[in-house]
Amino acid sequence: MAGMNSRLAFAIISSACWSAFQHGYNTGVLNAPQAVMSEWLQKEVLTGTNTSLAAKDDPKVTTVMSIAVAIYCVGGMIGGIITGVVADRFGRKGGLLWNNALVFAAALLEGLAKTANSAEMLILGRLLIGVNSGLNAGLAPMYLAEISPVSLRGSIGTVYQLVITMTILLSQVLGLESVLGTPEGWPYLLAATAIPAVLQIFTLPVCPESPKFLLLNKGQELHAQRALNWLRGDVAVHGEMEEMHQEAEKNKISKKVTLRELFSNRQLRQPLLIAMVVMVAQQFSGINAVIFFSTDIFTRVKLTTSQSQYATLGMGAMNVVMTVISLLLVERAGRKTLLLSGFAGMFVCSVGLVSCMGAMNVVMTVISLLLVERAGRKTLLLSGFAGMFVCSVGLVVAYMYAHISWVSYLCIGLVILFVVMFAVGPGSIPWFLVTELFNQSSRPAATSVAVTVNWTANFIVGLSFLQLSIALGANVFIIFAVLQLIFIFFIFFKVPETKNKTVEEITAMFRQQM
Ligand code: GLC
Repeated sequence: MAGMNSRLAFAIISSACWSAFQHGYNTGVLNAPQAVMSEWLQKEVLTGTNTSLAAKDDPKVTTVMSIAVAIYCVGGMIGGIITGVVADRFGRKGGLLWNNALVFAAALLEGLAKTANSAEMLILGRLLIGVNSGLNAGLAPMYLAEISPVSLRGSIGTVYQLVITMTILLSQVLGLESVLGTPEGWPYLLAATAIPAVLQIFTLPVCPESPKFLLLNKGQELHAQRALNWLRGDVAVHGEMEEMHQEAEKNKISKKVTLRELFSNRQLRQPLLIAMVVMVAQQFSGINAVIFFSTDIFTRVKLTTSQSQYATLGMGAMNVVMTVISLLLVERAGRKTLLLSGFAGMFVCSVGLVSCMGAMNVVMTVISLLLVERAGRKTLLLSGFAGMFVCSVGLVVAYMYAHISWVSYLCIGLVILFVVMFAVGPGSIPWFLVTELFNQSSRPAATSVAVTVNWTANFIVGLSFLQLSIALGANVFIIFAVLQLIFIFFIFFKVPETKNKTVEEITAMFRQQM
């Protein structure tokens, strides 16, 4: 049976690693340097701002920063929508290569925005890199699925998510004040996204186009055989060529599926529903709320800012480690088991977080009341209400650190566990599951829809989490817990196991269900 070899590994790195780099790096990159960028906007770019306010509290500045953050997801949606067309027109490899043009344009705009004192350039750059990331999220998993031997399709598919987790972490480390998160450094931090694009341009052309694309879409038998030979090294490819021929025969009957047909074809309804729901589930699990607001959450459970930043980095590192473990498990345990255990674990953590942060709130309120009372008596006796206030605040802080620090540690543990459970399956599996549920004729259109749904859901969580958490506090996790429970039921009843099955077998399974 075909397995891993150095050429296949090279193709995986040249395609997925450099593409997922854009997706992860640009997801995390604006996090750390927000403060220095806000100051630049307030002082140099936006006129008429109220400079008596701190930059981070200035409404004009926060609006521009929020747009710069959020427009990345809008770009992702656009990239998702055009994925199908690009994949069919330029091929998987061709599409990935062309996609780098967007990276260079974005890197220039973002890198020069400060020199030109232009918020527009920053925002346009973020939009373009978003489109690039949306395209990557469709094209790279598709290429991976089509070059992988069946027995390794899940592990190889997981590489895409693994690189996302690594590059989110990388962007957070590079964004630290001691590295590039400075007033002079941030343009370089943003422009550095061009480096993986250069690497891809030099390495990907060495690799072949997807053999399935060559045979099934282009009818180029010889090229397909050559591509497969290259990818498989010494292993004979007759069996795989034979399977592709069978798929090609069926494909002649079922011609390429357009977006409209995707939604109207009853046979595709079930896999399409599954692909869309797992994407929504990935985002509505609340993962990005935790990933991006973790520093805030940690400070709320009374860590100092720098402690919180390190806890965030630790959390990012756990995300990477657990994704590696999931990569090793996915072919043995199967997709469904990992998805279910991941979501179940996240559910437990959310419930725990609500009770823990809620309990913390109650405990803190009671303690602060008691302290205010006690300090009040003292201060009444000594120097009146003003002194009382100062004393009680100081006492609250002191008391808290001395006695109930374990509650904060529990919260931190739960937040990290939440991310770990996400990495078990909900992080990686949705990306490649969609490529497994559809055959060659419907895969591009279905991937387009799924990727667009993912970025839309990502956008919605990003926009609403902050407001919700201000309104609901820790109870915002009740919403996530309820959603997770719904997803668990859906996956249990609706998602089939695809481990070790060819795409033919998987699609046949859906036909039989009909
Ligand atoms: C997945 C999600 C992405 C998230 C990341 C965290 O790739 O799609 O939005 O930031 O996981 O690991």
